[in-house]
Amino acid sequence: MAAPLRTSLARLLFWRTEEAQSSRLREFAETEAFGARDLARAAERVQDPWTRRQLIRHAQDEVRHAGLLAEGASRPVTTGLGATMVGETAEDSAADIDAMGEIGFIAFVHGAEKRATAEFATHREALGEKGAFFESILEDERRHVAWTSHQLARYRSEGRGAEVDAAVRRMKMQRVTGAWMWLARRISLVTSTIVLTVVYVVGIGPFALLSGRGKGRARGWVTAKAPALQRPF
Ligand SMILES: [Fe+2]
Ligand SMILES: [Fe+2]
Repeated sequence: MAAPLRTSLARLLFWRTEEAQSSRLREFAETEAFGARDLARAAERVQDPWTRRQLIRHAQDEVRHAGLLAEGASRPVTTGLGATMVGETAEDSAADIDAMGEIGFIAFVHGAEKRATAEFATHREALGEKGAFFESILEDERRHVAWTSHQLARYRSEGRGAEVDAAVRRMKMQRVTGAWMWLARRISLVTSTIVLTVVYVVGIGPFALLSGRGKGRARGWVTAKAPALQRPF
């Protein structure tokens, strides 16, 4: 998609109202904070000192980004950074180095950073002057892409190229599966709304018309009376 079209779409879909801006920035802040948590955990696991230093610095950057984005939102982030760092968040959002393995984790972070760089560049454009604070974030994101790329090259130079290729392939497959799952969830939401509406109208509606046919009874839906119980417990 051409850059100007992407920018216009972002402006329309994400930044149209003050409220949308605020909630979008809050979402971004939370994502950055979750990322910081995962990177800090990864830094505890890796053995190589250079990789550990990069992960710690990267985690610190993401905490700073979360703070900047939360400041941009009119209300504070719902998940405090402190709570996020100790893992008080949904596990399904986590990128877990123990589950992914070191190469899998770095490949995942590399892909995520590339996407984040492109997305933030679009949002920076879409927000105009208001998006100036994205500049320093973008600078960091480019460095994150660079160090993870260098790290993947280091694995290759250690003879682990096949593992890197497999991790990148796996990550791409997961992206495709994730997109399908997202689409399936949207379709099921729309379908269930339609089906339930039909069930209510066709299956339950007639009972509303038939109810209360006896003498002195109100027709249609009536409000339930409160039970006449006067008990102290
Ligand atoms: Fe970031
Ligand atoms: Fe980043």
